[in-house]
This record gives sequence, structure tokens and C-alpha cells, in this order.
Amino acid sequence: MKKAALITGASSGIGAATAIEFAKNGYFVYLMGRDKERLQEVALRCRSGATLLSCDITDVAAVQKRLDEMLSSKIHKIEVLVNNAGIYETHTTETGTDEIWKRQFEVNLFAPIRIVRTLFPYFKEHGGGSIVNISSTLGLRPNGPTAAYSASKAAMVNWTHSLAVEGGPANIRANCLCPGIVDTPIHSFHSLETTQKTAALEKMKSLQPLGRIGTPEDVARAAYFFGSELSSWTTGAIVPVDGGINL
Ligand SMILES: NC(=O)c1ccc[n+]([C@@H]2O[C@H](COP(=O)([O-])OP(=O)(O)OC[C@H]3O[C@@H](n4cnc5c(N)ncnc54)[C@H](OP(=O)(O)O)[C@@H]3O)[C@@H](O)[C@H]2O)c1
Repeated sequence: MKKAALITGASSGIGAATAIEFAKNGYFVYLMGRDKERLQEVALRCRSGATLLSCDITDVAAVQKRLDEMLSSKIHKIEVLVNNAGIYETHTTETGTDEIWKRQFEVNLFAPIRIVRTLFPYFKEHGGGSIVNISSTLGLRPNGPTAAYSASKAAMVNWTHSLAVEGGPANIRANCLCPGIVDTPIHSFHSLETTQKTAALEKMKSLQPLGRIGTPEDVARAAYFFGSELSSWTTGAIVPVDGGINL
């Protein structure tokens, strides 16, 4: 059976780059996300083969259907899950409504938990698996009006530790990446016109010991390392991939 990886939020940014990185390294990739057209574009760049699992990650029945389709494959062995799909809304505790808090936790935490709940028995039956959770530096140290987002990402950090303990005896590893500022559509500066964008990036430069913000590929390479056998004796690691911004 050919080794395969499931990447959520694969239609854009870090998830798209991660799918391409796994494909470059010989994995068949399952691409989850809502935007079929963008998923299709990413699939075309995954030369080892890709299947689209198009759904809203918060739609419990639709996700379950897609996962069942994937897990019934007789030709692919699902070895890796990258929980990457996420949303970022800027609100303080005071301005964030219940709806905003619920949405942040639903997409960033509860949906990944449900996917893992489905994959765990499969991983156990198939000799193990590797889970990479994409949290954020804000999950380690909140900053600005990001209370709900930061709390959801902090929960993901802690949950990764539980997963590592629970999965260890079955050779299921769980590690967590905490990206800093990465140039993707999740940020409003991403789509600014060139002059404005250069000015915005220049401002952010001084916050970064390594002198630049990240690219999706910077995170994708780390996701590949922790998802693949390259990190076979590492579990429960919480790894900043952030140009040093948290220092
Ligand atoms: N960029 C950064 O600076 C940064 C920093 C720290 C952490 N992160 C984390 O990195 C992850 C990826 O973000 P990104 O920066 O690459 O942002 P992005 O380009 O906006 O990508 C977000 C991805 O999540 C998917 N997604 C969002 N809501 C979804 C839903 N309800 N159902 C299914 N898919 C959904 C989107 O797919 P569809 O639109 O197709 O549904 C998209 O593929 C997120 O978890 C984010 O919190 C990013």
C-alpha cells in the first residue's frame, strides 16, 4: 500500500504548501477544505497523486463521510494527519461574542478532535500514525485582540500532550507546530498592493530575530519533518516555527 497523508485546510497557505511538500516526498495526499477549485489547483501540483475531500470541517456528517471514503481505500495507508485548517478573528474578550468564541473553537479545536477520534482506531489497526497539529505562537503567548483565537490554539497545544500520552503505546505520535507570522491569505496584509505590503512587512521585520516573516514553505518543511518517519522518536513536542518572534 502506498503511504498517504491527510492535510486539512489544504486549499491555501500553509496547508497547500504542506500537501505539496508531502507529495514531493512520495506521499499520496488527501486534501480537505471547502474551496473545490483551489483544492483542485493544489492537487495538480501534487505529483504523487491527490484526492479532494471537499467539505466544511465543522459539518460533522460531511466530514465523517469523507473520512470513511478515505479510510476504506485498499491502496493507500494513511500514516499522517496534519490538522491545519483554521480561522483567525481579531477580538478581545470584551468584543468577542459567544458566536465568535464558539466558531473559533469549533474550527480550530473541536473539528480536529473529531477527525482524530475517527483516525485513532485506524492508526491502531495499522501499526501507528503521526499527527501534526498547527497551533500558533499566540497559543503560547497571546498578543493583541486575539483572545478566542489564542485560547483555541493554546488548547491545541495542551491537547497535543494528551494525544502523545494516549497514542504512544500504539505508536501514534502527536506533535505541534506554533508558527509565527506567515505570509498567507489569513492576514489582511497578504493582499495589499506592493508598496503598502512592503511597508507593512518592513514594520514587522524589527520584531523578528531572523529578520523576516515566514513563508508557507518554512512551516511545510517542519510539518513534513514531524509528520514523517524523520522524527520517529519524537512525540509531544511543541515547536515554534516563528523566526524567533516569541523571544
Ligand atoms: N499565517 C500565519 O501567520 C499563521 C500563524 C500561526 C498559525 N497559523 C495557522 O496555520 C493554519 C493555516 O493558516 P494559513 O495561514 O495557511 O491561512 P489560510 O491561507 O487562510 O488557510 C486556512 C485554511 O483553512 C481552511 N479552512 C478554514 N475554515 C474551514 C472550514 N470551516 N472547513 C474546512 N476548511 C477550512 C481554508 O480552506 P477553505 O477556505 O477551502 O475552506 C484554508 O485552506 C491555521 O490553523 C492558522 O491558525 C497561521
